[in-house]
Amino acid sequence: MYRINANFLKYPGAYLFLQVAKKREAFAAAHPDRRIISLGVGDVTLPLAPAVVSAMEAAVREMGRRETFRGYPPTPGYPFLKEKILAGDFAPYGVHLEPEEIFINDGAKGDLGNLGDILSGDDVIAVCNPTYPAYVDSNVVYGRCGEYDAGKGQWSRVIYLPCVKENGFVPELPAERPDVLYLCFPNNPTGAAITRAQLQRFVDYALENGCLIVYDAAYEGFIESPDVPHTVYECAGAKRCAIEVRSFSKTAGFTGCRLGYMAIPMELEADGVKLNALWRQRLAVKSNGVPYVIQRGGEAVYSPEGRAQTRAQIAYYKKNAAAIRDGLRQAGYEAFGGTDSPYVWLRTPGGRSAWEFFDLLLERANVVGTPGSGFGPSGEGYFRLTGFGTWEDTAEALDRIRSL
Ligand code: MLT
Repeated sequence: MYRINANFLKYPGAYLFLQVAKKREAFAAAHPDRRIISLGVGDVTLPLAPAVVSAMEAAVREMGRRETFRGYPPTPGYPFLKEKILAGDFAPYGVHLEPEEIFINDGAKGDLGNLGDILSGDDVIAVCNPTYPAYVDSNVVYGRCGEYDAGKGQWSRVIYLPCVKENGFVPELPAERPDVLYLCFPNNPTGAAITRAQLQRFVDYALENGCLIVYDAAYEGFIESPDVPHTVYECAGAKRCAIEVRSFSKTAGFTGCRLGYMAIPMELEADGVKLNALWRQRLAVKSNGVPYVIQRGGEAVYSPEGRAQTRAQIAYYKKNAAAIRDGLRQAGYEAFGGTDSPYVWLRTPGGRSAWEFFDLLLERANVVGTPGSGFGPSGEGYFRLTGFGTWEDTAEALDRIRSL
């Protein structure tokens, strides 16, 4: 009899956002008269920028003519998009990368998980606590996380770095050495940002201890504070220890289009092998690249019109997030984030657990958020709301929460 990958059986429950969706659906079925407002999963609500739509329309027409039709894309991505990425996302911060160091993908989540293919099954990972759940969940599949301890809400082989109010939601350096260190800044879920000096400490630690940093900068577009780095490569030595993961989902509204990229510098080497070469091989084996039409849409994000339009979208979401944070504070809540980030992280009132507060909010305010404990044990007693709703829904949700 064939066997399955039994690591899948180790998960204690469904993926966090599926649990949230299931609860929401059950409530909606039981109360069809209520209008539920979702500020839960970080999914965008504004339509694609007009510049992106025009570029995709033109690309579709090219695909419909014999002379301009294209078959398989280059697996690591089209040069036209890579050039725009290098000029738009790195050069303004004094960072030089080569096109060969950029790998276009169908969004951050997939390749964050796929990276596990090129790392040893014995590697020990460290994550922020709380953290975006995909880092740990995708490593469970490879057997890298050990066993789940339901009492602690932790995996036995994962190193957790607490991010709490006392440290400004930026972790201390690990007390035990991990092999792979996942950092996401601006942070999901806490909305905290990291300063250049703080990030440099992690880079120095990784260089000294032979760790790989996987730096998830999916929310880079939301940065406004001058001391917050836009890329890990602003830190000295980062090209020797860090992979950076980017996404068009939140910064250009591509959650439904799927586009992102990874930077894997040539300097990154382990066991005498370049990670860039290893990843290229993995891609050749498992991928045929990202659709031409989507990559043309991504290219348009970097045009002057695309820039202006997507920046306006980000400003809209940031206005929502700031309104949530400030409104909650006025109502007596402790609320964090929402400055360099679309996320607001609040303390649950009255000592309620995160899931208790989730239920209360759903039942009494008909608002869906995300329980902090779903992001890790240090998220207990916290709750996440997103700025990705419409302005009208955000204002109404806030009113409903305030009148609780
Ligand atoms: C979130 O809500 O944390 C994100 O939307 C999840 C994701 O980006 O996959």
